[in-house]
Amino acid sequence: MCRSLQASLFPLSGPGALGAMRTIATERLRLVPVTVKNANVLWNVLQQPDLREHQDLPDVDAEQFARMVAARPVAMRPGAHGRFEWLIYRRGEPDPAGWVSLRIGDRSTTVAEIGYSVLREQRGRGFAAEAVGALVDESFGRGHLRRVRAYCVPENMPSRTVLARTGFERDGVLPNGATVQGRAVDVLAFVIEREAWEARRKPRG
Ligand SMILES: CC(C)(COP(=O)(O)OP(=O)(O)OC[C@H]1O[C@@H](n2cnc3c(N)ncnc32)[C@H](O)[C@@H]1OP(=O)(O)O)[C@@H](O)C(=O)NCCC(=O)NCCS
Repeated sequence: MCRSLQASLFPLSGPGALGAMRTIATERLRLVPVTVKNANVLWNVLQQPDLREHQDLPDVDAEQFARMVAARPVAMRPGAHGRFEWLIYRRGEPDPAGWVSLRIGDRSTTVAEIGYSVLREQRGRGFAAEAVGALVDESFGRGHLRRVRAYCVPENMPSRTVLARTGFERDGVLPNGATVQGRAVDVLAFVIEREAWEARRKPRG
């Protein structure tokens, strides 16, 4: 699944000082913030039936979805909580390849939960790992998150591989931790701490 999270990001100095969501560029991808203007693009992506196999996604029509997006926070400033989402585009391609999200809970604004999906025809090329890695960098690099969590059903091996490749570590099992296709299921918990992320970035040797 990759349910959702909690955390909070800080204001920077200079552009983006208020922690506004921004387009994140990676080697092969652009992560474009989801706003009311492009909510319908994400809604269309969410209609792909196989995306619901391992995770619980909103079952609402396009208008309701746009209203949900409109109610979200637009800047990841301290204390902000809610869902932040980006569409994943391959550079130079007009159609989205998936999405990646951070959810910040209201009880702890330094802990976030990451979620992600890549459309079937785009899988197996490392796009999820590239997008998740970039969002973890954004969370710790521009934000003041202390911890990013992820959750995944045990049988979702591609998702587990993505998390391992991006530095997440196993953090136990959450019994009945998610609802998938209407059923409560146990989920594996994963976590990456800010310190571990910093250590990964230090040059070795
Ligand atoms: C999980 C998901 C996002 C991965 O997207 P992706 O772009 O294909 O991911 P990546 O290419 O970055 O990595 C997938 C990795 O899983 C590996 N993998 C694929 N099937 C696997 C399997 N059955 N067992 C073990 N590893 C597997 C791939 O080899 C790849 O690893 P590699 O790059 O080291 O070769 C995609 O499968 C998806 O959207 N699934 C449906 C929605 C979903 O489950 N979202 C996550 C909820 S937690």
